[in-house]
Amino acid sequence: MTGISARLAVAIGGLVCLAAACEGGQKQPEPSATGPSTTTLLDHAEGRELYVRWCIACHGDRGRGDGITASRLAPPPADLASPRIQDLGPDEVAARVSGGATGMGLAGVMPAWGHTLGPYQVLAVSSYVLSLGAAEAQEPQVQP
Ligand code: HEC
Repeated sequence: MTGISARLAVAIGGLVCLAAACEGGQKQPEPSATGPSTTTLLDHAEGRELYVRWCIACHGDRGRGDGITASRLAPPPADLASPRIQDLGPDEVAARVSGGATGMGLAGVMPAWGHTLGPYQVLAVSSYVLSLGAAEAQEPQVQP
């Protein structure tokens, strides 16, 4: 008897999933030519919001390490749009954001955000950081 009800539950669950999939099916965005990347998977609006609140003062609007406090910091804040950071990938950036200078074995002032931000927030802001490089890379193409 329990076997039958379990099967029934699975069947009903399947129907619900099917209905949900059908509903969402039309709204799926077209996969980009380069395939999905972590930088598009996470919500940039949230990442940007976190960045503006917690990072912009040191790293600057475009992540170039030119925030309003930057000139008073030694070593200066990293250029987040630089290939050195952009090539790290989402997990490594998230680890550095989470651990800060201490976590990286640096003597600098980069705070460890793992105490202030949750894991999803760290990933969202890291994802936003990785989008700064893409914006940077597009700029030379605008040249006449
Ligand atoms: C108080 C200023 C300050 C704030 C605020 C700050 N940073 Fe930094 N950050 C630095 C400095 C300075 C460095 C250079 C490394 C060091 O600490 O010596 C750095 C380095 C980094 C690096 C590069 C690490 C490496 O490999 O060199 C990343 C990524 C980074 N910050 C991301 C962030 C993010 C994301 C935020 C916001 C959640 C943030 N930072 C907030 C000062 C800051």
